[in-house]
Amino acid sequence: MKDLISIDQLGRAGIERILARANEVSQVASREVQKVPALRGRLVANLFYEASTRTTSSFELAAKRLSADVITLRASGSSVEKGESLKDTITTLSAYSPAAIVLRHPCAGAAALVAGWTDAAVINAGDGAHAHPTQALLDVHTLVNRIGDLTGKRIWIVGDIAHSRVARSSAVAFGLMGARVTLCGPPTLLPPGIGAALGCETSTSLERLGEADVVYGLRMQLERMEGVAIPSLREYSSYYMIDSGRLSSNQLVMHPGPVNRGVEISGAVVDGPHSLISEQVASGVAIRMAVLFELLAGGDVSKQHHETVMA
Ligand code: NCD
Repeated sequence: MKDLISIDQLGRAGIERILARANEVSQVASREVQKVPALRGRLVANLFYEASTRTTSSFELAAKRLSADVITLRASGSSVEKGESLKDTITTLSAYSPAAIVLRHPCAGAAALVAGWTDAAVINAGDGAHAHPTQALLDVHTLVNRIGDLTGKRIWIVGDIAHSRVARSSAVAFGLMGARVTLCGPPTLLPPGIGAALGCETSTSLERLGEADVVYGLRMQLERMEGVAIPSLREYSSYYMIDSGRLSSNQLVMHPGPVNRGVEISGAVVDGPHSLISEQVASGVAIRMAVLFELLAGGDVSKQHHETVMA
C-alpha cells in the first residue's frame, strides 16, 4: 500500500494491524528519550490547506518520534496565498524527495489526486467532507483500548453528518470492527441514503439515545455549509446537544475536536467522567506513528519489525 486515502482500503485486518502497531509504538512515549530510529533520514512533509490543531501536531510529533525530518506548510503564510496551485506546491515539495506527504485540503478527492502526482506516500489528513482515515483509526484505537471488542456495541454519531468526513470514516471503521452505528442529526444534516451507503441506521431525534454504549459528537461544520442548514445554533443545541441530562452513567462520549462547548456538547460532558476526548488526542500520536511506519517501513507486525520499531 503506497497511500492511505480512505479507511475502506484497510478493511478489518488492516485496521487491526495498525492498532497492534500503535500499541507497540505507544510504549515509546513512556521512555525517557521518546524516539526510535525507524524513519531516520527520511522526510515527512505536512501540507495543510485547512485549519488544524490536533492532526498537524500529532503528525509532526509522530514523525519526530520515528526520527524523520519534518516540514509543515500551512496554506496561510505559504506561497498558496500568492496564488500557487496545489500541483505546483506538490512539485516544489517533491524536489525535497519526501518519503510521505500528509495532506489536508477542503476539496474531496484532493489526496487521491496528489497521490497520482508524487512518488511519496500520501496520507489523507482530511479532504473536504470525504474522508479522514487516521481519525477513524484513532477513534477505534481509543474505544477498543477502553472497552475491548466492539462486536455488537452501539455507537451513535450525533451532529452535522452531512459535512463530516469524520462521520464517514469513523462510521465505516466502527462498522468494520463489528459495532452497530446510528447516524443522528437534524433532517437537513442527514443526507438521504447515507445510512445505507455507510451501513448504518439513521435517526433524526435523540429519543433512543439511551440504547447507545457510546455517543460520538460532531461539530457543526459551518465552513462547509452553504445557505442555512439549521435555523440557529441555539435551536440545534436545544434538540441535539449532548449534555448530562441526556446521558446515562454507563455511556461513553467521544468527539474528534475542536469542540464548540454548549453547541453540540456541553462543557460539563467534555470535562466529565464519560469523556474519552483526551484519550482520542493521545491515541492520535500512536496511530499516526503506526500509519507512517506501515507506509514507509513495511506492513507486518512481525518480530523482525518489532525489533526495527522498538530499537
Ligand atoms: C475534524 C476534522 O478536521 O475533520 N477535526 C480533527 O481532525 N480532529 C473535525 C472537525 O473539524 O470538526
